[in-house]
Amino acid sequence: MELVKLQIEEEIAIVTIDRVKSMNALNNQVYEEIIAHLEAIRANDAVKVVILTGAGEKAFAAGADIVQMVGQNAMEGRHLAWLCHRAAELLETMRQVTIAAVNGYALGGGCELTLACDIRVAAENARFALPEVGLGIIPGGGGTQRLSRIIGIGRAKELIFTCDQIDAQEAYRMGLANHVVPQAELMDYCRAMGKKIASKASYAVSVAKASINNSENVDLPSGCAREQDLLGLLFATHDKGEGMKAFLERRKPEFTDF
Ligand code: CAA
Repeated sequence: MELVKLQIEEEIAIVTIDRVKSMNALNNQVYEEIIAHLEAIRANDAVKVVILTGAGEKAFAAGADIVQMVGQNAMEGRHLAWLCHRAAELLETMRQVTIAAVNGYALGGGCELTLACDIRVAAENARFALPEVGLGIIPGGGGTQRLSRIIGIGRAKELIFTCDQIDAQEAYRMGLANHVVPQAELMDYCRAMGKKIASKASYAVSVAKASINNSENVDLPSGCAREQDLLGLLFATHDKGEGMKAFLERRKPEFTDF
């Protein structure tokens, strides 16, 4: 049975984790299907934005599947961690912009998937937490690495050590959620944001994403040096000529590069 649905609406792909009875808990199959969909989307020139969400009204994803994990050994745990990281790496580095539409609980591995997305939009009922140390493990799907980069190391340590859940408004105050919207408006809000992003020069957006990601991994002079090279490269693209000519001719640009 398929546990992750893929729906393509013109330039937007919607990936929906669909295991409602288990609060969209993430077992190996769910991770494998997320990875397969993201790999297919990455190769699809027509798709510019990915929205990742959970089915139903209660959960984005309540974490890795505890029913699966309870009997697993170290090597199986290591494989699960690899799956979490592969999905996160794709969300973070794929050329398309990734938006997490957080429609309820985003716990453990579910929270970690949102951390790997470029943008997080929370419904009013969203709740975020990394409860792993209460289960005798750690947030091993990128949680100990990405949370502190988004909200700062002090707040990240407190959330991880206490396992406290935070609601959407608190997530917004911390900079974890970019926006908080009523649940009924969540998907339309994300679609509208996706369409706005897709209307820009998609190759330039993907280069901006790569350059911002690079800034997290290198010192400022190295990041700035790479940024200068990337800007120079973009002067060689069709879209740079088209975007600037369209501005001067007061018309809508027709971007083609991706
Ligand atoms: N794994 C497996 N099943 C889960 C699950 C999970 N992570 N989360 C919820 N479920 C199941 C419940 O067992 C329950 O199943 P049954 O109906 O068969 O009993 C069903 O989903 C509904 O859940 P609840 O009855 O608990 O619903 P609730 O509204 O009372 O509570 C909740 C909701 C707060 C999300 C609670 O279910 C919960 O705390 N879930 C576990 C959260 C968690 O600890 N996640 C971290 C997992 S560790 C991890 O993610 C590590 C990693 O990345 C590698």
